[in-house]
Amino acid sequence: MRTDRHTSATAVAHPNIALIKYWGKRDEQLMVPCADSLSMTLDVLPTTTTVHLAPEAPADSVTLDGSPARGEARQRVVGFLDLLRERAGRAEPAVVDTRNAAPTGAGLASSASGFAALALAGAAAYGLALDRTALSRLARRGSVSAARSLFGGFAICHAGPGSGEAADLGSYAEPVAAPAFDPALVIALVDPGAKAVSSRSAMRRTVDTSPLHRAWAASCAADLAELRAALPRGDLDAVGEIAERNALGMHATMLAARPAVRYLSPATVSVLDGVLRLRADGVPAYATMDAGPNVKVLCHPADAARVADAVRDAAPGCTVLTARRGPGARLRTEAER
Ligand code: ADP
Ligand code: DP6
Ligand code: CO
Repeated sequence: MRTDRHTSATAVAHPNIALIKYWGKRDEQLMVPCADSLSMTLDVLPTTTTVHLAPEAPADSVTLDGSPARGEARQRVVGFLDLLRERAGRAEPAVVDTRNAAPTGAGLASSASGFAALALAGAAAYGLALDRTALSRLARRGSVSAARSLFGGFAICHAGPGSGEAADLGSYAEPVAAPAFDPALVIALVDPGAKAVSSRSAMRRTVDTSPLHRAWAASCAADLAELRAALPRGDLDAVGEIAERNALGMHATMLAARPAVRYLSPATVSVLDGVLRLRADGVPAYATMDAGPNVKVLCHPADAARVADAVRDAAPGCTVLTARRGPGARLRTEAER
């Protein structure tokens, strides 16, 4: 379906942090994950992306955080625009301007907010009328974690069945209702630098070479079932314990890859020690880490200031911010632009 009314659109999407992680694809071409994942979309660090069709331009133009995107970063966006054009039956090049409030490539899910915003703005600019499920499926083709940022609050991304078209159709995210669970997520930004190895190539190496990957992926199904039971109860201790062990297990699979992938730094480990001390002092706090050294600590909102202090003590000089549940991706209206 297509409409020709808009040739320019701006979308805003927030990053999401997985409580049950995705780490490995079973189809790299179609970007289909090996397993289900479940995340919380944040209310901080949004990406804002404008897609403007430029029929006269010789090629796509992509600006990321104010500079022309190069190499793989550009290619990922251009490949995504090709997919949009194929779906829309159109050929116009696009001018893309995207800005991340989060550091890019630091394990704070810039690819999630980035491709969720690009899917939404790009579909609107190319006149593709897609519902949220279709947008989520589409965003997955840019970055699997992006499928979840279409939705606010908690979202599950299904791995989907089978292979090929069935897998593509079956792999999308949808919201998970948990009105009683509104935790804080204290983010310890110990290093804003871009990772040396992208999530994409690190997980490929892990799937290909880590003897631990299969066991961890199997344990994710049990973690997910337990988490889905704990979420609607608003049971922070259960959710936190499951999320923390799921994340540590994921990092164990990477450490066992050949050669090893190690995102965790000395500062990460100091923050993890700080989280253990908090628990020993009776403050419920649980850590999760993605493909980078930065730590996110799940806690009660009333404890967030104390958790932030503990994190600062553990990693002096780090930047700390506190997130809550955030909204799904949305288009900016004409008036807001
Ligand atoms: P992160 O932990 O930040 O998600 P990844 O390794 O998953 O790191 O992905 C980082 C890559 O995602 C970047 O190198 C770039 O290719 C892409 N990316 C990040 N932000 C955007 C954006 N706003 N628009 C398009 N692509 C983006
Ligand atoms: C550790 O979705 O960023 O954050 O699909 O290759 O773009 P690509 O990778 P990405 O990987 C996310 C990995 C993770 C866990 C998660 O978000 O589920
Ligand atoms: Co990413």
